[in-house]
Amino acid sequence: MGFVDFEGRRYERRDGESVLDALLRCGVEVSHSCKAGSCGACMMRATGGAVPEKAQAGLKDTWKARGYFLSCACTPDGDLAVATAEADTQTPARVVDLELVSGDVMRVRLRCEGEFDFRAGQYLTLRTAAGVARSYSIASLPEDGVVELHVRLLAGGRMSEWLRSEARAGDGVAVQGPAGDCFYLPGDVEQPLLLAGTGTGLAPLYGIVRDALRSGHRGPVRLFHGALRVEGLYLREELRRLAALHENFEYVAAVLAGEGPDVEVGEMDGVILRRIPDLKGWRGYVCGDPPLVQKLKKKLFLSGMAMRDIHADAFLPPAA
Ligand SMILES: Cc1cc2nc3c(=O)[nH]c(=O)nc-3n(C[C@H](O)[C@H](O)[C@H](O)COP(=O)(O)OP(=O)(O)OC[C@H]3O[C@@H](n4cnc5c(N)ncnc54)[C@H](O)[C@@H]3O)c2cc1C
Ligand code: FES
Repeated sequence: MGFVDFEGRRYERRDGESVLDALLRCGVEVSHSCKAGSCGACMMRATGGAVPEKAQAGLKDTWKARGYFLSCACTPDGDLAVATAEADTQTPARVVDLELVSGDVMRVRLRCEGEFDFRAGQYLTLRTAAGVARSYSIASLPEDGVVELHVRLLAGGRMSEWLRSEARAGDGVAVQGPAGDCFYLPGDVEQPLLLAGTGTGLAPLYGIVRDALRSGHRGPVRLFHGALRVEGLYLREELRRLAALHENFEYVAAVLAGEGPDVEVGEMDGVILRRIPDLKGWRGYVCGDPPLVQKLKKKLFLSGMAMRDIHADAFLPPAA
């Protein structure tokens, strides 16, 4: 057992319990989402006591040095005094526009009102004025001048409902991050690239593809985007235009059921491996639904792709 000091009060932390779980159990409101150390929503700052290294994994060095840590991943050995993350870890931003690009996917464009350095394909934590914090992958390039996100609107989801019913162009939000290593690495411009994802897993892949092509990547770039049905596919025109402009870029749409022009039918791994049975020497990016990401990572590896060449971001749902 230990204690967590927060805003002038002392809370008991049970053995093995994270700082986040202890505070939530005691009725303290702390923003959080994945509870798995990946979304960044629960970041806090230690003002006394020692934070285990694991609780700072993936944070910027400057933040680590100032005591920031992920409270869901923090099970300290002793007592800890903590404070909420300060405003300087967040960049204020405004909603530029909101566009429904399919029945349940909203393209959200934000303009940052401060410095926010990112690579297309990384993810950020979006915070509303009401304190809802969720992670989203970045589909735009820094030179676009806006930060573009693709959000799947879930019935009853807190961020989803805010975007669907309340958010308007001009609204103020904040972004935190970026994080993640799912982005284009210049270096070997001849290496073939494979990108695969379903639903809004397209967001980071769209950014990475554009980054690679703009950087002069010469090897083949193959993007596989999947959905349950044709209506779930989106940005089809943009992707077709990109393919028409770049000889080395191919866009393949796949659905599990139904049919449509230029659409493959079948499981994503089968569609990929039918076209590229041997993936030796390829670099891969897989994003989106966690079970699909896990399955694809395994299939790509078994088909010859080196594990070090597989970059993945699983869109972990919020913990119960
Ligand atoms: C690294 C990372 C990157 C992400 N990138 C994106 C992205 O680019 N685009 C995107 O749309 N999402 C992305 N997500 C997921 C996103 O952060 C939110 O979890 C999602 O938008 C739901 O938020 P919400 O507030 O609308 O719903 P919540 O209020 O959090 O949840 C509402 C209900 O829906 C359920 N639920 C939540 N997510 C799912 C799901 N995936 N499948 C089934 N049920 C679910 C919850 O359990 C809950 O019952 C990412 C997550 C991570 C960790
Ligand atoms: S990183 Fe802690 S809730 Fe997501």
